[in-house]
Amino acid sequence: MVVIGAGGREHALVRALQRSPQRPEVLAAPGNAGILAQAPAFAADPEELENFAQTAERERVDLVVVGPEAPLVSGLVDALKDRDIAVLGPSKAAAQLEASKIFAKEIMEAAGVPTAAYCTVSSVEAGLRAIESYPAVLKFDGLAGGKGVVIAADEPQARSALAEMLEQRRFGAGSVVVEDFLEGEELSLLALCDGVQAVPLAPARDFKRIGEGDTGPNTGGMGAFSPVPGVSAEMVKEIVAAVHQPVVDELRRRGMPFHGVLYAGLMLGSDGFKTLEFNVRFGDPETQAVLPRLRTDLVDLLLRASREDGLKEARIEWDRRSAVTVVLASRGYPASSSCGDVISGLDRVPDDVEVTHAGTSASAGDVVTAGGRVLNVTALGNSVEEARTAAYAAADLIEFDGRQMRRDIAAGQVERERNS
Ligand SMILES: Nc1ncnc2c1ncn2[C@@H]1O[C@H](COP(=O)(O)OP(=O)(O)O)[C@@H](O)[C@H]1O
Ligand SMILES: [Mg+2]
Repeated sequence: MVVIGAGGREHALVRALQRSPQRPEVLAAPGNAGILAQAPAFAADPEELENFAQTAERERVDLVVVGPEAPLVSGLVDALKDRDIAVLGPSKAAAQLEASKIFAKEIMEAAGVPTAAYCTVSSVEAGLRAIESYPAVLKFDGLAGGKGVVIAADEPQARSALAEMLEQRRFGAGSVVVEDFLEGEELSLLALCDGVQAVPLAPARDFKRIGEGDTGPNTGGMGAFSPVPGVSAEMVKEIVAAVHQPVVDELRRRGMPFHGVLYAGLMLGSDGFKTLEFNVRFGDPETQAVLPRLRTDLVDLLLRASREDGLKEARIEWDRRSAVTVVLASRGYPASSSCGDVISGLDRVPDDVEVTHAGTSASAGDVVTAGGRVLNVTALGNSVEEARTAAYAAADLIEFDGRQMRRDIAAGQVERERNS
């Protein structure tokens, strides 16, 4: 089987697949220094859809697991399915759920999924007229690498954000969704879908800002933990029944059955939960905190999800322990990127701590940084506090020039655990 992608999420996927009793041969496309140390490279570029699909057919690949959204949105799944190759991920049509905020809103509306009230605008003036109060939430319709959402505190901020998106076309042509600001705590709830049903994975929370106390610019994610204290199995069921399942039903009705991971970003408010957005793939870094807790064979689960109704009666079991993931990022991230700094201390990390690579490469016998987020350090523990302590103890052993690490990942949860 082939795992597409080059980040910490894909490294965690490769590890979890290799833990399967089926002992699969896992290949990476393209992988990174950490992934390639334990899985050989697959000889085709996923950006060249037809060539990739042809090569996969020739090599009799039994499953392709797509990590990032780009290949999904460009139609890699469709190209593979044309050749009857099993693949985990939605079709190009269903991937619009992530690629277009407007499409996601329309599906939610049609399926009766709780979400913030919204309207769509294509000019700055229309945008300002649509805002009823501040803070206001402005979302560029298309993919924007995590930079397309602005929470504007006042009118001047809203005006400049709208101008940047609609007039300067920072992310290309496209409209903007103006939606109500929601208060509460965020939750990432991912579900595995087989076109017919949605089966939840363990709940997680991620930390998007670069700075401690959730300050500074957004990043790809600086840490995560799973499960989320206070989010019961009952509540997970309720959310899947109100959010994931209706979306899967609606897409099926429209002739675009959803296979793969449906990731709902949710806001848990005092009056219940609302959906902020959908992603159509595993989250990064949530996956690094979720998969080490998986007790069910991932190969079997992903193969089932690739078949229509394959997850019927599937049960997913989880390690009861908590997992905490801490991200180490390179100097200047997220504004700029620093490469080539030698990483030391990887060999000192205890065996029961999982280090997954993101922006790393191999250079003359060293592992060096390759920009962006560099490494993820995940530890398990009998409490959030134990997991957190172990993750930071291991992360502190790993050094490189300019290393950035938030010290407060899951800190609030430890407080809460103590008080409960
Ligand atoms: N309606 C909303 N109210 C409050 N905060 C929001 C709202 N929508 C989005 N956000 C915040 O902005 C972040 C990014 O928005 P999201 O819709 O997840 O877009 P993307 O991940 O594509 O950038 C969310 O994680 C959340 O913190
Ligand atoms: Mg998001």
